Amino acid sequence: MWDGWVPIHLRSDFYDVDAFLSGENTLQEFEIAEVGDVRGKNLLHLQCHFGLDTLSWARLGATVTGVDFSEPAIVGARELAAQAGLTPTATFVVSDVYDAPSALADRRFDIVYVSWGALVWLPDLARWAEVVSQCLTPGGFLYLAEAHPFLRAADDDYFRAEPEEIQSTETYADPNARTPPVPSYEWAHPLGQIVTAIADTGLRISFLHEFPGGAYRRLGFDEVPASRPAMYTLKAVR
Ligand SMILES: C[S@@+](CC[C@H](N)C(=O)[O-])C[C@H]1O[C@@H](n2cnc3c(N)ncnc32)[C@H](O)[C@@H]1O
Repeated sequence: MWDGWVPIHLRSDFYDVDAFLSGENTLQEFEIAEVGDVRGKNLLHLQCHFGLDTLSWARLGATVTGVDFSEPAIVGARELAAQAGLTPTATFVVSDVYDAPSALADRRFDIVYVSWGALVWLPDLARWAEVVSQCLTPGGFLYLAEAHPFLRAADDDYFRAEPEEIQSTETYADPNARTPPVPSYEWAHPLGQIVTAIADTGLRISFLHEFPGGAYRRLGFDEVPASRPAMYTLKAVR
């Protein structure tokens, strides 16, 4: 599914690759503020798609590595790195997130970054959190920025343990582009399970921030009422 979506996303207004290539940073201001100074840091971006956020961290001075299991996504990321003149500080690796430690030859990073629509695709949060911990250098940290699981509470499936099978013929980035219906599976991990999976690895949670809807048009969270949680960010230190 992701392999088929990449070419659509690369030309979508949602991702706006042209704006990125003309210098725009795709990260949210609060992400940059919460992560802090990344100059000279080694940053690993898990499930990086075609790397716009990864490369935005590189523009801020980090040496970045992006991992995604979609080969077209990684090929796209490498091309964008070259076009943006970031090849010297950006590496992209094709790997399932669960195989990341071996694909990265057990390299350790100062920061592991995971964001916006990553966790719903993963069946096993405990294994994911172990991967994150294994990829961190002592003193390094995970920064997670995600859609709030409470958004699903409206559909009455907040605690659903089984994945939802979806046969999508459109993508979130371009509702007008038609794609062949490929089955995909989304897991509704509740917030408590996410935080507990991370804490169980021994990482120390520094903060869990929740953000209301109503803002952040770019991420689509402006459609969520300001009275409801739309996003959260979490920092956990090894
Ligand atoms: C919504 S995108 C990533 C979000 C990113 N913040 C963005 O908006 O570009 C989800 C990504 O996860 C990747 N992905 C899903 N399951 C994966 C897995 N098991 N291992 C590695 N990558 C995976 C997909 O290929 C896709 O690029």
